[in-house]
Amino acid sequence: MTAPATSSPTTTTPATTDDGPGQPGPRAAEDPFDKDVLPTPPGATGALLRSLLAPLRARVALTTLLLLLQQAAVQAGPLLVAYAIDRAVPAWRSDDHGPLAAAGVGYLLCALASGGLQYAFLIASAHVSQDVLLDLRGRIFRHAQALSLDFHERYTSGRLISRSTSDVEALRELLEEGLQELVSVVLSFLFISAMLLWLDLGLGAVAVASFVPLYLLVRLYQRRAGRVFTARSTAIAAVIVKFVETMNGIRPVRAFRREAVNEAGFRVLNHRHERRNGDALLEMARYVVGSRLVANAAVALIVLWGATRVADGSLELGVLAAAVLYLRRLYDPIDRLGMFLNSYQSAAASLEKIAGLLAQTPSVPEPSTPRELPAPRSDLPGREVVFDGVSFGYRTGGEVLPRFDLVLPAGQTVAVVGSTGAGKSTLAKLLARFYDPSAGRVLLDGVDLRELPMPELRRGVVMVTQEAFLFSGTVAENIAIGRPDASREDIERAAKAIGAHEFVSALPDGYDTDVRKRGGRISAGQRQLVAFARALLADPAVLILDEATSSLDVPGERAVQAAMTTVLRGRTAVVIAHRLSTVEIADRVLVMEHGRIVEDGTPAELVDGAGRFADLHRAWRDSLA
Ligand SMILES: Nc1ncnc2c1ncn2[C@@H]1O[C@H](COP(=O)(O)OP(=O)(O)OP(=O)(O)O)[C@@H](O)[C@H]1O
Ligand SMILES: [Mg+2]
Repeated sequence: MTAPATSSPTTTTPATTDDGPGQPGPRAAEDPFDKDVLPTPPGATGALLRSLLAPLRARVALTTLLLLLQQAAVQAGPLLVAYAIDRAVPAWRSDDHGPLAAAGVGYLLCALASGGLQYAFLIASAHVSQDVLLDLRGRIFRHAQALSLDFHERYTSGRLISRSTSDVEALRELLEEGLQELVSVVLSFLFISAMLLWLDLGLGAVAVASFVPLYLLVRLYQRRAGRVFTARSTAIAAVIVKFVETMNGIRPVRAFRREAVNEAGFRVLNHRHERRNGDALLEMARYVVGSRLVANAAVALIVLWGATRVADGSLELGVLAAAVLYLRRLYDPIDRLGMFLNSYQSAAASLEKIAGLLAQTPSVPEPSTPRELPAPRSDLPGREVVFDGVSFGYRTGGEVLPRFDLVLPAGQTVAVVGSTGAGKSTLAKLLARFYDPSAGRVLLDGVDLRELPMPELRRGVVMVTQEAFLFSGTVAENIAIGRPDASREDIERAAKAIGAHEFVSALPDGYDTDVRKRGGRISAGQRQLVAFARALLADPAVLILDEATSSLDVPGERAVQAAMTTVLRGRTAVVIAHRLSTVEIADRVLVMEHGRIVEDGTPAELVDGAGRFADLHRAWRDSLA
């Protein structure tokens, strides 16, 4: 067998092994998001562990106490054997039956007590670990959900999944199995050493001397295993990420016949994990063999030396028997100490990754001192939007929107047009506060979006995008997301208003059709209609439609257009559309190029002018003819 830690395997193409899953092209070399372990403040991992255990302090103490008592019951056994051989058997010979009976009953009681205590301990420790894991999974979910979009764009969902599955699992192993091992190993070491020294100083000294090579062995193992286990957990995370991302993108995978390429990439990662696993097993095997060798040598030494001493009468046979029994008990758990160190290393590596994730702060945070929006005005529905000296660039790129000012009066319908990549969606995302501007402010009725409580912002500004996403649940539930207290009538009214009622009624269970179940699968255009109805029902002061009708057929789009005046009435609206038919209902048109607003006027003004919009409009007219 080759040594996997150093050999370079033959089946892989080295240059691609560390490539992210399915992301071709060059990437920034120094992005910390390329690694599994995000920069973690010093001490964060320990603090996380303490904060998980703090609420369970009493139960942790109880669990430890149970374990201590159980160990005491276990360790009493050999002592009773020594007593039986050296005292009770001679007493029995002189017709005193009491001591042997006492030793037998005592041994039985100890066995019973140890069983009962073990049972209680297992239950108590399972409760502790279940509570810790419940808390941790909840924290990961809440925290990840609260983090801003730019985090999720860089930290893939595959990695989030591996944090809350394999990493939490590593911690479970430590809590449910590892800690018990550690405590019982340490306790037996202390107890048995003391016992051996008390029984016979010489034998005890030999046993204690054997701890030195064992200790060195453990240290060596720990150092080597640390590296190996981190590599292993990184490798399994890469496997999960690749898996999740491939399945998430299964449509393009099919469309572009990427199966073979993906499979090759997956095979590389899968094999790498297997090799890392092999490395870990090899380390463990070396450790187990080494520790057994030392242990057996020590036992052999003690038996030999002890037997000569029994023969010359300087040692009682019972003491030698007890010493050998104790030594077996002492060395047995050393293998398991290796296991414990494994689970400890894995858990430490995992916990560090989780702590790194939990240390991330949202780049779009909740305000610390929130401000209320002024009361809505009855004469002027909708809210005024002001971009005040705003500029913006995504974290991963250069400036997308150079500094600009823009006022959208309350109640106005503004169409935004411009070529692909001009920055239209970016403008909309700033207004919905998916991102904060790099400089300047976005104001809603004079209040900076950063000062608005998130729930109020989400109620006030709603964005419907091209990718209409439906959550698992019924069609009615999906429409009611923006207003969970809406009645069935409200839901149907919204659906009717945008022309979705017809197709929904034709579904197997109508509005109660589960969108993820068979028969509930609905088309992209139908999804957009549901998203539209959702936005209408939410009744926001500011509505943003970003290519929201792009998947509709011409009659479908006509139907939405017809409803549009109703939908947009009484609110401020930003409508982004490539199809100029949408633009005609707007009060005002903005034309964007390369992040700048290059034209601004009513549709009629711009059509009659000599600018970009007039060109676009002419081309569009010609295409219709
Ligand atoms: N999440 C992102 N991270 C980094 N850069 C981005 C991101 N989203 C958009 N960009 C970049 O910002 C620029 C503007 O993109 P934006 O999506 O605003 O264009 P758009 O006008 O909406 O285009 P389209 O008509 O194709 O939807 C583009 O150059 C794009 O590459
Ligand atoms: Mg866009």
